[in-house]
Amino acid sequence: MAKAVLGVIGGSGIYDLPGLEDVREEPTASPWGEPSDIPRRGRIGATEIVFLARHDRGHRLPPSEINYRANIDVMKRAGVTDLVALSACGSFREELYPGLFVFVDQFIDRTVRRESTFFGRGCVAHVAFAHPVGPRLAERLAQAAAAENIGHHKGGIYVCMEGPQFSTLAESRAYKAMGADVIGMTNMPEAKLAREAEITYASVAMVTDYDCWHEDHDAVDVAAVVRVLRENGDRAQRLVARLARDFPAEHEACPAGSDRALDGAIITPPQA
Ligand code: ADE
Repeated sequence: MAKAVLGVIGGSGIYDLPGLEDVREEPTASPWGEPSDIPRRGRIGATEIVFLARHDRGHRLPPSEINYRANIDVMKRAGVTDLVALSACGSFREELYPGLFVFVDQFIDRTVRRESTFFGRGCVAHVAFAHPVGPRLAERLAQAAAAENIGHHKGGIYVCMEGPQFSTLAESRAYKAMGADVIGMTNMPEAKLAREAEITYASVAMVTDYDCWHEDHDAVDVAAVVRVLRENGDRAQRLVARLARDFPAEHEACPAGSDRALDGAIITPPQA
């Protein structure tokens, strides 16, 4: 098995990882274009970590302008085997309150204008995606959260919307009725591309608000979201530090098959 390298993508409010030691910037060219930021490599304990700020350091990139292909590609080139995505989200359930971390295990993709595959004309591939999250990695996150006394919930359905506007009331009610648990703007196509790159992916959906379905929360208020994001930042950093300290030296085979997703997935025959 390959040496484990932990990738961390920091979402809104998370533009660096203060616990990271021996940090160096690794500018990495990608044939897919510009990644959101220069990847930063360092370590926590014995675990090697590559960190990338999804919205760039000054939060300059809206969700639809992020080059998800370049981001995943530079993570792959950096040797990342396991990728943790940290993202703000709204909640569709009373008990998933602002400040809680939800380790989601399913996604509904409602994005409409993003490049969502590395494949296409000339090389056609269809990877399995029934189980988009690596269950071992998600379980390690839950254990790290428990060890750090961070309020968390295991499992959940994340709807990824295009944005940048928040949902209408009708949309919010519809997603809730559909059974979705949380909503965000960035985990798709990130999770799909990680699967195509055979990187094990897990998402930490950090609840910042109740979206607009909730009777006591008429509309999403960015100021309130930012307030919760500031508090989430410290918890997210503790979560990653604990995860890294307890991380195995070798990548653990993924029960969802994420690390061998291309086995049998490419339909186009090799060129003679
Ligand atoms: N990110 C944080 N809160 C959100 C919400 N309510 N909808 C979509 N993305 C979000």
